[in-house]
Amino acid sequence: MRKLVGLVLLSVLSFTMIFAQSGQVEIFSWWTGGGEEEALLATIEDFNELYPNIEVINATVAGGAGTNAKAVLKTRTLGGNPPDTFQVHAGWELTDTYVIPGLMEPLTDYLKSWGVYDKFPKGLIDIVSYQGEVYSIPLTIHRSNVIFYNKKLFNEIGLTKEPETWMEFIDALEKAKAAGYTPLALGDKNKWEAGQIAENLMVAEFGAVNYNALFNGELSFNDKRLDSALEKMVQLMNYVNVDHAALEWQDAARLLYEDKAVFNLMGDWAEGYYKTLGWTPGEDFGWFELPGTQAVFVLVSDTFGLPKNAPHRQNALIFLEYLASTRAQSLFNPIKGSIPARIDADPGDDPYLIETAEDFRTLIISPSIVHGSAAPEAFVTSFNDAINNLVTTKNVNQAKQMILWAAEDVNLLTD
Ligand code: GAL
Repeated sequence: MRKLVGLVLLSVLSFTMIFAQSGQVEIFSWWTGGGEEEALLATIEDFNELYPNIEVINATVAGGAGTNAKAVLKTRTLGGNPPDTFQVHAGWELTDTYVIPGLMEPLTDYLKSWGVYDKFPKGLIDIVSYQGEVYSIPLTIHRSNVIFYNKKLFNEIGLTKEPETWMEFIDALEKAKAAGYTPLALGDKNKWEAGQIAENLMVAEFGAVNYNALFNGELSFNDKRLDSALEKMVQLMNYVNVDHAALEWQDAARLLYEDKAVFNLMGDWAEGYYKTLGWTPGEDFGWFELPGTQAVFVLVSDTFGLPKNAPHRQNALIFLEYLASTRAQSLFNPIKGSIPARIDADPGDDPYLIETAEDFRTLIISPSIVHGSAAPEAFVTSFNDAINNLVTTKNVNQAKQMILWAAEDVNLLTD
């Protein structure tokens, strides 16, 4: 009799466990493009090997840097119809848009019970936390102050060393232009791509410490170095493809792959993209930091959180625990061109990733504006508008004024 009761209990238990690990989980992101999609799909496939009964709904809204996805996500979350988990940048984008308005569940206790709380860099945990609670699981560490280049064209136009100074970079762009190639590939259809160049020029002009001070409210935006960054932005526009406003980041990155352009300043999701096109890092394409930013790691980190009212909350937690594992982090990141957020995960064996992992450990970290880490969304939108206005009008004073207004609006220093 006792045996029978035990058996019944056991089957109820295993039924409950299987039941708990079935059903659906909806994951929301903007990873639909080359490099991004491959990484996401490989990860979903791996998750399904572990949890064959959980159906992953891969909800995506195309548009690099979440151009279209963020608005959809906000509407869904505010309307009480969130996905089970979603891609969100560490920093202001997470805290200001979702945590402070009370839309997210804290995850600190889960991270502790999964034994991973201390497996992420402290600085990263800080920017996914609010009032002592962690609100999302960091998955990627991307670097966005990187210039990729086509090695074949680089050699063909007579360059022998990677530019280290602004003058050397301009000289290299001139050589590319003289040879009839697009010197600097740009696709700023979604605005952030031009904004990303400008923020890197700001890092170069201010240096990491002062750039960070702008966003900590310790240094005024009303500074000559902002003018210099904007002037350099105008200068760079002499070297971009004429159709830049019609292209997205992958289209621009592809110009290198097609032997039409020599350089591309892009976050290292482009590294993932080049690899999925079949290019080998270090052989077909090379990289260097925007001159003036060599000592800085401009950080973009994708994380996943747990919204309140997640329809499949239990499965969301199973998925988040999986994302926090070395298994998921070591699989996803090398395909994506990022290094794992977890310090004990494997960054992969390509030379770009090995170098980047080392740089992340040793350099000063500066948060990206356009990818939502440095400042609230209202600033990001106005900053991108100011830079796109600058690209069209070349009016530095006007762009500076627009940035000052944007800073003032979010209580950053302007005098
Ligand atoms: C960033 C995101 C990256 C990559 C990129 C282009 O905002 O953090 O993971 O997806 O946009 O879409």
